[in-house]
Amino acid sequence: MERSTQFTLLICSSFVLAAVAQNGSRNLTALFHVGVILDLSTLVGKMGMTSISMAVEDFYAMHRNYTSRLVLHTKDSRSDVIQAASAAQDLIENYEVEAIVGPQKSSQAIFVAELGDKSHVPIISFSATSPTFSSLTPYFIRTTLNDSSQVSSISSIIKAYGWREVVLIYEDTEYGRGIIPYLIDSLQGVETRVPYRSVIPISATDDQIMIELYKLMTMRTRVFILHMTPIIGSRLFLKAKEAGMMSEGFVWILSTGLTNIIDSLDPSVTDTMQGALGVKLYVPKTRKFNDFATRWKRRFLQDHPSDEPSELSIYALSAYDTIWAVAMAVQKVGMGMLGASMNGPKLLEAILMSKFEGLSGDFYIIDGQVQYSTFQIINVVGKGGRGIGFWTPEHGITRQLNNSITKGYSTSMTDLNTVIWPGDYNSVPKGWEIPVSGKKLRIGVPVTQGVPMLMNVETDPVTHLTIASGYCIDVFESAITKLPYAIPYEYVPFQTTQGKLAGSYNDLVYQVYLQKFDAVVGDVTIRYNRSLYVDFTLPFTESGVSMIVPVTDGKNMNAWIFLQPLTLELWLGSLAFFIFTGFVIWIMEHRINTDFRGPFSHQLGTIFYFSFSTLVFSHREKIESNLSKLVVIVWVFVVLVLTSSYTASLTSMLTVQQLQPTVTNVHELLKNGDYVGYPRNSFVEILLKQLNFEASKMRAYDDSVDEYFMALSRGSKNGGVSAVVHEIPYIKFFLAKHCTGFTMVGPIYKTAGFGFVFPKGSPLVPDVSRAILNLTDGDSIIQIEKKWFGDQKTCLNQGSIIISAPNSLSFCSFWGLFLITGVVSISSLFMFFIMFLYKNWHELRTIDTDKSVWQRFRSWARYYNKKDMKSYTFRIGKPDNNTSPSTSIMNGDSNVKASTGDNSPNMIIHSCDLYTTYSPPVEESSSPELSRTSTEDRLVNVVVSH
Ligand SMILES: *[C@@H]1O[C@H](CO)[C@@H](O)[C@H](O)[C@H]1NC(C)=O
Ligand SMILES: *[C@@H]1O[C@H](CO)[C@@H](O)[C@H](O)[C@H]1NC(C)=O
Ligand SMILES: *[C@@H]1O[C@H](CO)[C@@H](O)[C@H](O)[C@H]1NC(C)=O
Ligand SMILES: *[C@@H]1O[C@H](CO)[C@@H](O)[C@H](O)[C@H]1NC(C)=O
Ligand SMILES: *[C@@H]1O[C@H](CO)[C@@H](O)[C@H](O)[C@H]1NC(C)=O
Repeated sequence: MERSTQFTLLICSSFVLAAVAQNGSRNLTALFHVGVILDLSTLVGKMGMTSISMAVEDFYAMHRNYTSRLVLHTKDSRSDVIQAASAAQDLIENYEVEAIVGPQKSSQAIFVAELGDKSHVPIISFSATSPTFSSLTPYFIRTTLNDSSQVSSISSIIKAYGWREVVLIYEDTEYGRGIIPYLIDSLQGVETRVPYRSVIPISATDDQIMIELYKLMTMRTRVFILHMTPIIGSRLFLKAKEAGMMSEGFVWILSTGLTNIIDSLDPSVTDTMQGALGVKLYVPKTRKFNDFATRWKRRFLQDHPSDEPSELSIYALSAYDTIWAVAMAVQKVGMGMLGASMNGPKLLEAILMSKFEGLSGDFYIIDGQVQYSTFQIINVVGKGGRGIGFWTPEHGITRQLNNSITKGYSTSMTDLNTVIWPGDYNSVPKGWEIPVSGKKLRIGVPVTQGVPMLMNVETDPVTHLTIASGYCIDVFESAITKLPYAIPYEYVPFQTTQGKLAGSYNDLVYQVYLQKFDAVVGDVTIRYNRSLYVDFTLPFTESGVSMIVPVTDGKNMNAWIFLQPLTLELWLGSLAFFIFTGFVIWIMEHRINTDFRGPFSHQLGTIFYFSFSTLVFSHREKIESNLSKLVVIVWVFVVLVLTSSYTASLTSMLTVQQLQPTVTNVHELLKNGDYVGYPRNSFVEILLKQLNFEASKMRAYDDSVDEYFMALSRGSKNGGVSAVVHEIPYIKFFLAKHCTGFTMVGPIYKTAGFGFVFPKGSPLVPDVSRAILNLTDGDSIIQIEKKWFGDQKTCLNQGSIIISAPNSLSFCSFWGLFLITGVVSISSLFMFFIMFLYKNWHELRTIDTDKSVWQRFRSWARYYNKKDMKSYTFRIGKPDNNTSPSTSIMNGDSNVKASTGDNSPNMIIHSCDLYTTYSPPVEESSSPELSRTSTEDRLVNVVVSH
């Protein structure tokens, strides 16, 4: 305490005395005691102090008739928390200050704010920026922005340049740590990872800093966000320059801690920061600002003659505005008669209500904090920061500050001026580097003999260098050349000392996880279980697992294939309906149509012939009854559907059977207990087991086209296999070589195709994936395919045959049709009988009334069997309702009561004249009426003509 009083400078009371002296007669009604706590040995402290002195002078020079005066009591907190707290206590208790300006640091603010809160003394800090809420008490006012305000501008820069990983470096203080949660949240918002945070204790020695920097060098991330106060920050940069971290490929982004006073830093320090980016609070350079700047610099030099001249900074401006706000509030509150604890709340309220145009912009307080929002993005070049753009919460990054811009929020690199990066580098650093230890990317390649066109690895016998070639390698190398940066790499074979593949592909991929390889390139399929350990790029091949099976040609085609389109039940069902329909027609036509009359065998023949001839629509019998016409029309429609279905089915059978795979699906293999082949060391083995294949039925082969060919040729029964299950790219190469005799069946399983393997979180993955898309979208990939596999179009059975087992048509497919024709036939038959009984009832009921039911029934049947002479057909060519004698002759039926007596030959002649005499012979007649003329009529005709 005593030592601190030594440092207490009551310089400011002199202003008051001066004011009194100016007008001795004037009453000075109110003296307000205000404490100031700053680290007077720091640059910020010195700047603040100069501004505070100037502010008091300027304020009262401008407001001469104000009746209040500030009396300042300044204490040096000497960069110490306890010192600041005791200074605050001293000021409150012994000096009875009514407000305290300061403290300077966030860590000090926590305690001082607590004291202020207890004794109702407003604490107004213009430089404690830590956003932690612990410093928030109602009596704590921040006349600057807290650090969380700048995180969005920093992450916007990261996003604009597309960096995906950053390392945070910050000092281990309240100030340094406060921003970190906010910064990490904000970086997550732009999908940027923070793989490492480097915390530098304030007490760290240069050696410790150097060790930490070397550690950072071994990591791949090359983007550093630095959040530090100038003292430790300057030291760190000196060391970073020494470590070579201020050179090409590195990115440094500074928070406001350094940028806000970057113009005032020692030139030797700014020299080490060349190329760094940063954000700083933006203050428009108005005329007022410029005038003040000149005065301020002069004054600073006066106050600190032994120091370097300093530039005006945001701290100086905030300190100046703070004093103005306090002075105004004090004047508003008025008489200081009540003592500190009574004035406190009123003074606090007055300060919170302040609103004026300060040097740093519009000064107003919301939530205990001054509101500014514009940040300038700077690039450290030469002696200070060169503005390259702005950041505002509304528009994001913009090149110019222009209130009339209407565009939305954007974070685009094109909105920033060009940057000179560390090492005088002009293009944007990619933000990561292969760790120094690796130098070249070690790319593992599988040693396979399988499909050399896909992947072939050899060792040069002379130079012992690994030479990889094939489709996969070409795709990889083309993709690498598409990257915007160069990547040195070398191939490392994954092999045993005998030159064989050292394990399965899973093992190969696992080497990346174990960091034995930096990547794996080859015919590696993207699989779920592998993706747990590594990251895959996008696939560059087609995907899926299928089978190669031999095909049989269609020469041994079955002689009975014509029966196959319909199932037996459909054949029998159709037959039954043919007969049924013929029978129905016969019943309905029998009495009225001579075509359906005659000897029993003849009638039977007609029934069958009629119904079967509908099959080809060649039935010639004339149908008389309307009911039978209806039945026939419906039936013919059914027949039409049936025959066309038969034709279609037969056609498809004949064509499909041309190239018939011997096996059409996996289940057939399982059912037959056939052997199935698969490539050794491939995931296909697991897949087959999942499909319930027994291990004894599976045969592994070295991945080579010839081996598969031999095995398939031998067949399952002779020690070979019935099918080989493999991934589609391989199958295509197999088929390209053995085009005839084999085909692909499937796919039976989906996979994601081949991809390149990188360690988890590798920044190369998105870039290489994009390069692969660039290849696959264009025709580059087709060129590569042509180079390795030639034009595959020549082989026609390349594509997978989708097998639809030739389906026979069953009765079920047509029962609807049969239902319709059945219903129509039966209901017609029913109606026919009703009409028959109705028309003939008076005769039927008189027949054999005395006989048994059975005999009566037979008599009725006999009655039915007779011609229906009343029918329209038989009336043609006959006058009136009477039967002609000839009819009766032909009929020879004694039961018919033919009254021949009435018939006169004249009438017959007449009728013949009408219908026959003038017409050509009946057979050739095209007239429907005449063609109906029966044999009997012709007979009559002949008789009459003679
Ligand atoms: C001193 O105060 C009186 C009244 O209070 C005023 O009339 C006079 O102008 C003042 N003199 C100076 C030098 O400010
Ligand atoms: C100064 O104070 C005296 C009494 O202390 C009072 O009578 C006088 O009016 C005051 N003058 C002014 C200008 O306020
Ligand atoms: C001071 O004087 C100005 C005019 O010169 C006047 O507008 C203002 O109200 C006065 N303020 C006080 C506190 O007397
Ligand atoms: C920090 O500033 C932001 C906006 O500038 C504000 O939303 C937030 O509440 C402030 N945090 C603290 C602790 O003052
Ligand atoms: C591939 O990238 C180049 C530029 O790198 C571009 O010009 C080209 O259009 C891209 N190709 C496709 C198919 O997108």
